[in-house]
Amino acid sequence: MRGNAFCSAAAGESGVCDFSADSIKNSLGTKIVGREIHVFDRVSSTQDVARELVQEHSAGGTVILAESQINGRGRFGKRWFSPHGSGILASVILYPRKFSKVNVISIATALAVANAIGKVAGLKTLVKWPNDVIISGRKAAGVLVETAGKALIVGIGINVNTDAEDFPQAIRESATSLLRELGRKVSRIALIKELLIQVEHYYGELEDSGIVSILREFRELSYVNGRQVTVFSNGRDFEGEAVNVDDDGALVIRLDSGVRKRILTGEVRVVC
Ligand code: BTN
Repeated sequence: MRGNAFCSAAAGESGVCDFSADSIKNSLGTKIVGREIHVFDRVSSTQDVARELVQEHSAGGTVILAESQINGRGRFGKRWFSPHGSGILASVILYPRKFSKVNVISIATALAVANAIGKVAGLKTLVKWPNDVIISGRKAAGVLVETAGKALIVGIGINVNTDAEDFPQAIRESATSLLRELGRKVSRIALIKELLIQVEHYYGELEDSGIVSILREFRELSYVNGRQVTVFSNGRDFEGEAVNVDDDGALVIRLDSGVRKRILTGEVRVVC
């Protein structure tokens, strides 16, 4: 069973979910992303639902949304805090033709999320390689890209109307929400719509024009460039100065020894 309540077009009437597939599709204007939308009240993880839908041959651009997740996950097996009714918990199924590298898709999606938040909430967002969206030094959103055969499942979690004191103690200092930053709630429907528009824009750009301008934008918004970082990669910690993201989407750091190291996958912590 996928979730405890399937919120179809009638969700607004039943009151189970704050938004319905139809309310999101209404004047959305995208061609591919969001042509099929499934909204659930509670699921284990929207990534798992997406995986089932891939097996059932769901179309590229299918979106899965949930009001809460029991086992929401982030990169490297971390949990994603998924309380009911306060965030955006989304997975998008994609069948990329040209760019299927997880890194590159993470980077493009982080930009889509950063722009959507900027447009709807008016907040200044930065991106932390490869998948985080940062506001005022704290993480407001994350992206998890998983493969499923030829499909990519792009998971997006945004802390929207989460009260600062509701975050678990372990992440209370490092995490933020749009509510925490703005001091007022943000319309999740408006943000979901803008998010889907931005996701379509950045994938279209990747497929049509390649990675160059996406990387340029990512570098301009980079939270880590020029900072001292520790990167956990392939079971080891590397410490040095984050120099840039190279043309393949890898993070380049200058180790304290002076040697430049390319990191293809890893988790970055900013030291100062
Ligand atoms: C990260 O920052 O490590 C990535 C977080 C991704 C969280 C989202 S929430 C929707 C989707 N379903 C999941 O279980 N995870 C992603």
